[in-house]
Amino acid sequence: MVATMGGGPQGGAATVFVGGGNMARALIGGLVRDGGSTTPVHVIEPGEPARRSLAGFAGVRAWASAEALLEGAGAGFRPGLVVWAVKPQVFAAAAVPCRPFTAAALHLSVMAGVTSHAIEQATGSARIVRAMPNTPALIGQGIAGLCARPEVDAAGRAAVQALLAPTGQTLWVGEEPLLDAVTALSGSGPAYVFYVIEAMVEAGVQMGLPAPDARRLAEATCAGAAALSMQSEEPVAVLRERVTSPGGTTFAALQSLRTDGVAAAFVRALHAARDRAEELGRGG
Ligand SMILES: NC(=O)c1ccc[n+]([C@@H]2O[C@H](COP(=O)([O-])OP(=O)(O)OC[C@H]3O[C@@H](n4cnc5c(N)ncnc54)[C@H](OP(=O)(O)O)[C@@H]3O)[C@@H](O)[C@H]2O)c1
Repeated sequence: MVATMGGGPQGGAATVFVGGGNMARALIGGLVRDGGSTTPVHVIEPGEPARRSLAGFAGVRAWASAEALLEGAGAGFRPGLVVWAVKPQVFAAAAVPCRPFTAAALHLSVMAGVTSHAIEQATGSARIVRAMPNTPALIGQGIAGLCARPEVDAAGRAAVQALLAPTGQTLWVGEEPLLDAVTALSGSGPAYVFYVIEAMVEAGVQMGLPAPDARRLAEATCAGAAALSMQSEEPVAVLRERVTSPGGTTFAALQSLRTDGVAAAFVRALHAARDRAEELGRGG
């Protein structure tokens, strides 16, 4: 349930999503989960199939354009919260027709690499929270890094956190550039885990396991190890050492990983992702 916020003569408590794709649907699904949002939810989404599927959510109205929304809701329409869920490269163009209702609103952006400065320029509002979610959000098991501009008050932070809660965990970071590190670690992170699962499955199949069995073993191992780590107070290295008896099978595998420099390669990979996020933020 999203908290309401002041913000204008009509529709002050309304939430507008700009972009109704995967990430928006994960957030809207959470918003309406307990029988629908108590406040109006509007989505601007040019794609007709996406609009049709959004219309299935209780209390959600999907519009083909900002102009259509303004025509339907009235020129005095002032939503409390605007959620930016379009691809970063279409943000600037998508923001132009929204300008009549953005200056007074709180903004939540889930777009990778679009700075709060760029959002302020395009919307006329400095009340901005940037979030970096990840794909497990689609099944309520994501983690989103969040960073708020100083202009966002405690109520604004709480409203954004409530909106994201159904998608999983949230973690506030103190400075906006740290969101590039969050992007490199948890934003892109599911791909690294899938990469490890793929390699484990490939090895299992090479050693004679049927592919579905190898996949099940690899998936359950990654999920179980992460759950054990989350429940433990011990450093992760201690958990690793506990399953690594000297001269044993795990020892042999870890020696091989060390010889191949796998940990250092992972660290370099995350730096590459962070550098790319910074570049995208500069418009590259
Ligand atoms: N998916 C993730 O796991 C994830 C994780 C972290 C961050 N993000 C961020 O979330 C944002 C959305 O990602 P997504 O995966 O949800 O992408 P997506 O599924 O492609 O959704 C974006 C939607 O925006 C629509 N759109 C295009 N131009 C528009 C406009 N001018 N006005 C309104 N809507 C417009 C697109 O419609 P058409 O398809 O018809 O063009 C599409 O349905 C991105 O900025 C991404 O960086 C996503």
